[in-house]
Amino acid sequence: MKTLIVYRTTHGCTERIAREIGTRIGGKVDYADLKQKKLPAVKEYDRIIVGGSIHAGQIQHKVKEFCAENRELLLGKELGLFICCMYEGDVARKQLQDAFPADLLAHAKSILTAGGSVNLEKMNFLERFAVKKMAHLDQSMDHTDMVAVERFARKMDRAFIPMMLFV
Ligand SMILES: Cc1cc2nc3c(=O)[nH]c(=O)nc-3n(C[C@H](O)[C@H](O)[C@H](O)COP(=O)(O)O)c2cc1C
Repeated sequence: MKTLIVYRTTHGCTERIAREIGTRIGGKVDYADLKQKKLPAVKEYDRIIVGGSIHAGQIQHKVKEFCAENRELLLGKELGLFICCMYEGDVARKQLQDAFPADLLAHAKSILTAGGSVNLEKMNFLERFAVKKMAHLDQSMDHTDMVAVERFARKMDRAFIPMMLFV
């Protein structure tokens, strides 16, 4: 089983989660940051996992573009979708629903809101201002949810065995 994990990260959190997922799933795993000009050929993989992070309610444009351009291919593959974000619960779930097309969400074998991290040192003045105002933060924080990452990876690896239905 060959997997491609495609992601876009702004300050590094989504890349870290992509790697955490990659170490937890079976088979060969390749990574592609959507900021790269040349991406590996998606059609050569059995399984694709797509992730990005939420800023002002939106996933990165490059993630949306990738999903739109590869829609047919993605619908024919095993698919996983994830986001990194600061909000939790219903808000996080709504952000995930808004981040990806409905048909890809319905097709996905596993979906994940991985939590997020805020690294104030890596941000410019405007980003720092926005995050401090929005989350009332005055220091960096890491709220990534590794239990959810583990669950996501386990579900991605789960095989469908029809005989199990009769046991
Ligand atoms: C300017 C800015 C705006 C953000 N807006 C949101 C938001 O609307 N909703 C949310 O849940 N998280 C928001 N976040 C938090 C990020 O999604 C979170 O820090 C995430 O881990 C970033 O991942 P990355 O380092 O891969 O970009 C925002 C962060 C920044 C810096």
